[in-house]
Formats: sequence, C-alpha cells, structure tokens
Amino acid sequence: MRVVVPGSFDPITNGHVDVVERVARRVDHVVVAVLVNPAKQGTFSVDERMDLIRASLDHLDNVAVDAFEGLLVDWCNANGIGVIAKGLRAVADFEYELQMAQMNARIGDIETMFVPASPSSSYLSSSLVKEVARFGGTVTGTVPAVVEDALLARLAESD
Ligand code: PNS
Repeated sequence: MRVVVPGSFDPITNGHVDVVERVARRVDHVVVAVLVNPAKQGTFSVDERMDLIRASLDHLDNVAVDAFEGLLVDWCNANGIGVIAKGLRAVADFEYELQMAQMNARIGDIETMFVPASPSSSYLSSSLVKEVARFGGTVTGTVPAVVEDALLARLAESD
C-alpha cells in the first residue's frame, strides 16, 4: 500500500517524524506531501521545508517527499495514491480532520487513516515550536536537530 502524509510542515516537528516513521513501518511506501499555499508566506519556503523533511527522514528508505498545489485528492489521483494518513494529537484535531476526511472521500474517493500521536509528542505543533523559539525558549527535542538549527538561523536573520 502507498500512502500520503500531507501537511504544511513549516517546519517538520518530531511529532510529524513520529507519525511518518510509524506509518512507514506498516505500508510499502509513504510520500510526505507539502502544501504549496501561495496565499500564505511561511517561515520556510516550500523547497526549504522539503529539504528539512528529507534530512529528518533520511533514515527511512521507503519515504519520498513531494509538494502539491490545489486539492490534495487531485494530487492523490494523479499519483495513484488512495490513502491519506494524518496524525491526530487530541480531540481538538478530530472535528476538522473528520470533515476533511469525509470531504476527500466524497470529492476524490480517497480514504483517510488516522494515526494517534505518541503521548510524547501529542502537544507539539509547528506554530508552537516557532513561538517558543522566537521568544528564546528551548526547542531542543521538539524538532529534529537540523530543523532546530535552521529555525534558529531563520529567526536570527529576521532580528
Ligand atoms: O499541516 P496542516 O496545515 O494541518 O495540513 C493541512 C492540509 C495541507 C493537509 C490540508 O489543508 C489540505 O489538504 N489542503 C489542500 C487543499 C485541499 O485539498 N482542501 C480540501 C480539503 S477537504
């Protein structure tokens, strides 16, 4: 089975890494797909995000990285992938994720598989990590080391 793990990944956190690692152990192939959102300027460009994902998931040999624009189901159908895997951190994630899963099933005949976040990373989000880093808090252990270095460098540039 081939599965896509989609997201903004601005930047990838250890929560994302955990979900991808666990999905990759259960399926043949995983594509981590980064949303290209022209309406929203991120902390990292899509190319930078893809590079950070590749560096963070280098140890997994059945994982590839791609980017997509527009509807995720169109990318899935164009790439012959019928299953989306999404991490769920808490009940708060569930409502919106369920809506998207049902919509994606309706408009694209794509199934969604939910993967519960590991307790050790269930509080992590890219935006929270960035906020902590921006105000000088330590983010060590919440993101891969390569991401921490890139984040601190990016924040130093904007000072
Ligand atoms: O990391 P995120 O921001 O939670 O990821 C959300 C993402 C990228 C998976 C979602 O916004 C998405 O699939 N966007 C693409 C546009 C789309 O297909 N929208 C319809 C969803 S039902």
